[in-house]
Amino acid sequence: MEREDYIHIINTLIGQIEEGVYIVDQDGTGLFYNKAMAAMEEIEVDDVIGKLFHKAFPGIGLNESTMYQALKKGVSTKNKKQTYTNLYGKSITTLNTTVPIKLGGRTIGAMEIAKDITHLENLSDTIQELSTKKTRKESAVAIGKPAIRRYTFEDIVGANEGFMRVVEVAKRAADNNASVFIYGETGTGKELFAQSIHYGGIRKDGPFMAQNCAALPEALLEGILFGTAKGGFTGAMDREGLFEQANGGTLLLDEISAMPYPLQSKLLRVLQEDYIRRVGGTSDIPVDVRIIATVNEPPEKLIAEGKLRKDLYYRLNVVNLVIPPLRERKDDIPLLVDKFLNKHSERFGKQVWMPTEAVIKTLSRYDYPGNIRELENIIMQSVAMAGDEHALSEKLLYMPVDIKQVGASAANWDRKGPLDDYLGNVEKEIIREVMIEESGNISRAAAVLKIKRQTLQHKLKKYGIKG
Ligand SMILES: Nc1ncnc2c1ncn2[C@@H]1O[C@H](COP(=O)(O)OP(=O)(O)OP(=O)(O)O)[C@@H](O)[C@H]1O
Ligand SMILES: [Mg+2]
Repeated sequence: MEREDYIHIINTLIGQIEEGVYIVDQDGTGLFYNKAMAAMEEIEVDDVIGKLFHKAFPGIGLNESTMYQALKKGVSTKNKKQTYTNLYGKSITTLNTTVPIKLGGRTIGAMEIAKDITHLENLSDTIQELSTKKTRKESAVAIGKPAIRRYTFEDIVGANEGFMRVVEVAKRAADNNASVFIYGETGTGKELFAQSIHYGGIRKDGPFMAQNCAALPEALLEGILFGTAKGGFTGAMDREGLFEQANGGTLLLDEISAMPYPLQSKLLRVLQEDYIRRVGGTSDIPVDVRIIATVNEPPEKLIAEGKLRKDLYYRLNVVNLVIPPLRERKDDIPLLVDKFLNKHSERFGKQVWMPTEAVIKTLSRYDYPGNIRELENIIMQSVAMAGDEHALSEKLLYMPVDIKQVGASAANWDRKGPLDDYLGNVEKEIIREVMIEESGNISRAAAVLKIKRQTLQHKLKKYGIKG
């Protein structure tokens, strides 16, 4: 074979592998430099081949150059970690190995192999971060659940009498250590209440931990709650459970009815005795934890179905909060809409501050199976779609389609009273909407409504709508 053929074979080989490869001859001239290396270092292959290595990489001093060390001093460097910022500002971490290439006692070249370990590096950073977070006392991290927000009672918005009574009970509960049992459908604000009770109460300086009990196998959940002791089972390590981590604070147990039945008895025992034993451990560890438990179906039903232990329910239900679904307190809608308009306008840099009357009516006609969370999503999406308008009109309202159509149809409006008044209201609302949509421009609004400008002016005056 010719020399050219060998070069071709080696080029093909190193072109296929994921590691970066860079080979220089005894003078330091680049012989091989593969695409993987070029991608990591963001240099063109042609800028390296045939060039002296210290000319190709002028930024690296000879003494710190592992290539120089290998070539001139015969020194090998194995798996040296290097982190640098690439042209795009992205941080790259590589593991480099540089070795002299020797033939019969003579150094005929040097070779560097580099492996991009950036995402391995990120992964270990994440694990590191999670474990330090878990040991920080004020952290609300449960397994894989960082506390993104801390709610207080000030975040709870409402006007409905029944709802405000629930808020009052919750505020009183914040002043003591009694267990709290919250029942509310999905999205009614159970987490909001639980956090408010913790952060607004006497335990606010202690940790707040949360764990959803659904979809976890019994043994895993048990280990998460009570911790594990070394030697307890194969591979077990000494690890604190959530009870120990929440010591002096609050532990929120979400969807407690999803907790396997036998574990519910263990939990009851812990609550009665105020100490825990790690899985596989022998010593009793005293704990002082306030429990807040939630369910999203009526507790009586869950007990009857054998999903919630009656004795555990009685033990937890010292303070009982039942959060009514949104469809039973539609008088809260205007306040909630205001709150969410403000929140998301700020977030998206928009200025939608006011809902039109028609929008509030349309929103009030819907039943919200997803409760407050669903209402918030509707408002958020509407704000996101908005341009520079200041009012949330029907045009912007982003709702399940059929609801909006029902909303737009006057047939569903309150029809008590004289027909003329009713029609007048409909007309007024339609004109108001169009005026808002056309930013108060009477000629354009008249064109949209297909009526004369003068007629519109007359109606605006009649209904007291400002142009
Ligand atoms: N009364 C309220 N005032 C203001 N915001 C509320 C209110 N109730 C709920 N929210 C908001 O609605 C969203 C859902 O609330 P949260 O997560 O507390 O509900 P949840 O009952 O825990 O739901 P799930 O059963 O799905 O876990 C949150 O963004 C919360 O801030
Ligand atoms: Mg929740």
